[in-house]
Amino acid sequence: MTRPIRALDLPIDEDQFGIALAAALRSHPRRISPKFFYDAPGAALFDQICDLPEYYPTRTELDLLARYAGEMAAAIGPHADLIELGAGSMHKIRLLLSALEDPVRYLAVDISAEHLHYHASLLQREFTGLEIIPLAADFTRRFKLPASARASRSRVGFFPGSSIGNFAPEEACQFLAATARMLRGGGLLVGVDLIKAPEVLHAAYNDRQGVTAAFNKNLLARANRDLGANFDLDAFDHYAYFNPYDTRIEMHLISRWQQEVCFRGESFSFAAGETLHTENSYKYSIKSFQALARQAGFQPQQVWCDAQQWFSVHWLTMA
Ligand code: AVI
Repeated sequence: MTRPIRALDLPIDEDQFGIALAAALRSHPRRISPKFFYDAPGAALFDQICDLPEYYPTRTELDLLARYAGEMAAAIGPHADLIELGAGSMHKIRLLLSALEDPVRYLAVDISAEHLHYHASLLQREFTGLEIIPLAADFTRRFKLPASARASRSRVGFFPGSSIGNFAPEEACQFLAATARMLRGGGLLVGVDLIKAPEVLHAAYNDRQGVTAAFNKNLLARANRDLGANFDLDAFDHYAYFNPYDTRIEMHLISRWQQEVCFRGESFSFAAGETLHTENSYKYSIKSFQALARQAGFQPQQVWCDAQQWFSVHWLTMA
């Protein structure tokens, strides 16, 4: 029989998006956190991105997990109490769960509640003996685990997909340090995208089918749907490029012409070519990521990498 799922959602501040959007529109240059991409349509578009031929990170990381799950499981050890930050569709955790010796619990944290609950129930059907707890929460902010989800022992964190790259390096360091505290002396398995030829990066964020463009523009569509904004989606272009000085992909929505946007009774003008900066995706070298992890209080252990050195998975323990 399938276990009943115990969901432990934290209250998400309903107007966070509205407040962030108003602040972004009032500032110059205009910038908003990428976490607002992930409403239900945004999460579905992100799933489509992961299947694109040009978007190598998901495919490469899945290959690494499939190939080295045994070594990763050996490093983690038996009876793991797992917590995944940004669980999404839970494809990657399946590979790890299948290799782990007798994992005791899997707490899946994600900002997109609907998506999370659906995929948690699918996973529960496959791993009937495992306690699976979906927790809808914004893990990019300081959050406290509900008492019933707290561990009496150390935990194993799983943070795949190179979502760490969506933080600026200083924020990534703070985030890793906070995660280390939450793990109570356990370890973290983290996926990190690596610096590579700009044309590979450019193709990955400018796919031919336009899915990444739709994902980027969903931010404006969401503002129209949920907040009553009046963005004209045809008046903005998706614009993504590799910035080699900061080793990051920058993603923007660029105004095609001079226009006015109305939001909550205020009018905001966009000059032709003016952008709303929606995402950074930092790329690291193995060394630069290990230095960041050390700064956050971790001790880097094994690193698994593909032959092209495009993507890496790091096992970090507490120093
Ligand atoms: C979730 N994150 C790691 C993705 C990335 O590559 O930075 C989000 C994404 N943005 C555009 N394509 C994918």
